[in-house]
Amino acid sequence: MSKMKAVIDGAEIYYIDTGDRPGPAIVMIHGFPFSHAMWSPQIEFLKNHFRVIAYDVRGHGKSDVGDGQYSIELFVDDLIALLDHQRLEKVVLCGLSMGGYIALRAIERNPERIGALILCDTTSNADSNETKIKRTASIKTVKSSGVAPYAQEFLKAVLTPTTVQNKVDLARFVLRMIEANSSVGICGTLLALAGRTETTASLPRIHVPTLILVGEQDKITPPELSEQMHALIPNAQLQIVPNSAHLGNLEEAEEFNGHILNFLKELN
Ligand code: MLT
Repeated sequence: MSKMKAVIDGAEIYYIDTGDRPGPAIVMIHGFPFSHAMWSPQIEFLKNHFRVIAYDVRGHGKSDVGDGQYSIELFVDDLIALLDHQRLEKVVLCGLSMGGYIALRAIERNPERIGALILCDTTSNADSNETKIKRTASIKTVKSSGVAPYAQEFLKAVLTPTTVQNKVDLARFVLRMIEANSSVGICGTLLALAGRTETTASLPRIHVPTLILVGEQDKITPPELSEQMHALIPNAQLQIVPNSAHLGNLEEAEEFNGHILNFLKELN
């Protein structure tokens, strides 16, 4: 497994590139406020079948934080620059939540670079006014009290109560992943999320195979939002993952991996 940093628009972007297999590479884009580490069970599994690239979005994990002024557009610029850096002409994009927002804007802007899409626990909608206001409240909390209390609250929103209670190591892993991010990175990304525009209007123009996955108990991007995308993307497949909330890839990793493998095998 190679672990590297690419310098993109003045920022070091950390990524791993593993599973030296022929065929299209899968590029994994994590959610907010996590890092590529959230994909650990998928990387371990998928690298036996495909080339897998997972990176830390600017402001997250081991990538540079920079000035903290981000937008979804900038995150897409970084993604496309990373594909260029790795000489990847066309890839399968797999994004969870914020990663899905980035993937959906990427296919709108650069459809020629994407051969298939996996959209996990995400939405094509922009934030409602209520959500935008909540984001500004979160910025206030992070600035006044630091990342740790925010991480504790966020944890409860992304995992089911059963997971928090029974899978203590998993919950601790997610908490540490959030806490490892800086307040500048978190606040800058909250502004980017609040400022993003919708991609719903372009869903009917997606003509690549698309798999939509969502946790049955996802409260942040509930199944109705996945059903909405499923209805608008031609020939998309939808799988609802039981016993999981926003992070089904960790809560029900085996089932999640199975859906991805079945979908990707059909492409070959
Ligand atoms: C994520 O997991 O990326 C975030 O929950 C997305 C969001 O807050 O909209």
